[in-house]
Amino acid sequence: MRLIMLGAPGAGKGTQAKRVAAKYNIPHISTGDIFRDNIKNKTDLGIKAKEYMDKGLLVPDELVVDIVADRLLQEDCKEGFILDGFPRTIPQAESLDKALMSMETKINYAINIHVPDENIVRRMSGRRACLNCGATYHIKYNPPKKEDICDNCTRELILRDDDKEETVLKRLEIYHKQTSPLIEYYGEKDILITVDGTVDIDDVTKSIVEILGA
Ligand code: AP5
Ligand code: ZN
Repeated sequence: MRLIMLGAPGAGKGTQAKRVAAKYNIPHISTGDIFRDNIKNKTDLGIKAKEYMDKGLLVPDELVVDIVADRLLQEDCKEGFILDGFPRTIPQAESLDKALMSMETKINYAINIHVPDENIVRRMSGRRACLNCGATYHIKYNPPKKEDICDNCTRELILRDDDKEETVLKRLEIYHKQTSPLIEYYGEKDILITVDGTVDIDDVTKSIVEILGA
């Protein structure tokens, strides 16, 4: 199964993508996680990406499309994958279509998690992330077993640099301008699924799995 996860920042793409990846045994590919790994390891890509991410802006298309195209060529993507945070612009979607065409395959579904802007800022201030293993939590809706400690790897959880309120508002603005046109793009291809992302995390997963099938 080849899937794309769409949605505003904080809509729950990462949370749901990890669950869907585990259920269908496909790799979860998050461009945000790839950038954060590069920032942590102080690579050239990380240094460039951080400049944009800290301002709530998108990293330029040319820094991301080849990374994803190369990743999709790896062996573990043969039977499927779930893309989280990519594509984020129409040019990225077009480059993905091209890469998939050359692999003689295509996306089965684009899953759009819908959450109104009002809910987003509230959610982001409660998010805690593990920079070591990429796990995400919410202090109220999805708390770790031990306060501020990752369940998986016992490292300390942090509030992401880009989760400050003013940066979240900027990310939302950019989402509406540059990313939300993808809803129409995949709608026209007849592969768009929209789910309500305001209900409990388990219920969002249920509605996705109901559509994708067991
Ligand atoms: P990225 O990491 O992709 O950030 P994002 O899209 O802004 O999404 P988030 O990770 O913030 O949120 P999410 O939707 O995954 O929500 P989550 O599951 O964590 O990208 C970061 C930056 O990298 C971008 O701003 C950009 O600069 C750059 N970038 C990345 N990809 C790029 C690309 N392709 N092109 C250019 N630039 C790119 O959930 C949020 C919180 O809510 C959590 O605390 C969670 O526990 C909680 N939660 C989740 N679901 C629910 C629910 N149903 N009810 C209550 N709480 C919930
Ligand atoms: Zn961890």
